[in-house]
Amino acid sequence: MAASTPDNLYPTFDRVLGRADKEVRLKQRGRVIWLYGLSGSGKSTLAIAMERQLHAEGFTTHLLDGDNVRTGLNRDLGFTDADRSENIRRIAEVAKLFVQAGVVVIAAFITPQRAHRQLARTIIGADDFSEVYVAASFETCAKRDPKGLYAKASAGGVKQFTGKDSSFEPPTAEDIEALTINTEAGTAAESLAQLHAAVSPRITFQ
Ligand code: ADX
Repeated sequence: MAASTPDNLYPTFDRVLGRADKEVRLKQRGRVIWLYGLSGSGKSTLAIAMERQLHAEGFTTHLLDGDNVRTGLNRDLGFTDADRSENIRRIAEVAKLFVQAGVVVIAAFITPQRAHRQLARTIIGADDFSEVYVAASFETCAKRDPKGLYAKASAGGVKQFTGKDSSFEPPTAEDIEALTINTEAGTAAESLAQLHAAVSPRITFQ
């Protein structure tokens, strides 16, 4: 048994039907496309459009989105640094299960700190993880304000709001793997085309 296996647990990873069998059946490669960025940057819109396009093309997909997951699995979590880390840890573990089933996962979470992105990458595995920064400035997101949260936060009605009293770390030059999609620079259709072009070769079965 591996040294890190807790006492009294006997995992059967070596006996369960493997991911490769599932990918052959689905004729695709499982992968996690992890979209991150400020609230209002366009993550959910892009994720929904991307999933619809992949589904229409015959891919088996699953969408994981912050506001949805926080009403179920993570309903006990708030927005402290510790809760955001736990939020990302659980989501990454769930995403990993889907990848093991051969599914293409589109994840849309603020994932504000570089350490959160690193945690997700470590749990899922770098080979199965595409990190995509959905970029829009705080000012633009505040102007779009699709949920009215920026107005509420500026009136003091939302604590630990990302970009206001809780920090957001954009990628730096060190994040060489991160694709950036700037939703201020193009239309929704252009953002989708950019994402699709980057992802498609990574999930196509050959
Ligand atoms: S994360 O920081 O832990 O990655 P997550 O993506 O799950 O965040 O949830 C973000 C969503 O929660 C936002 O899109 C927004 O609708 C809602 N929300 C509620 N309170 C906050 C807050 N204080 N900061 C950011 N988003 C919040």
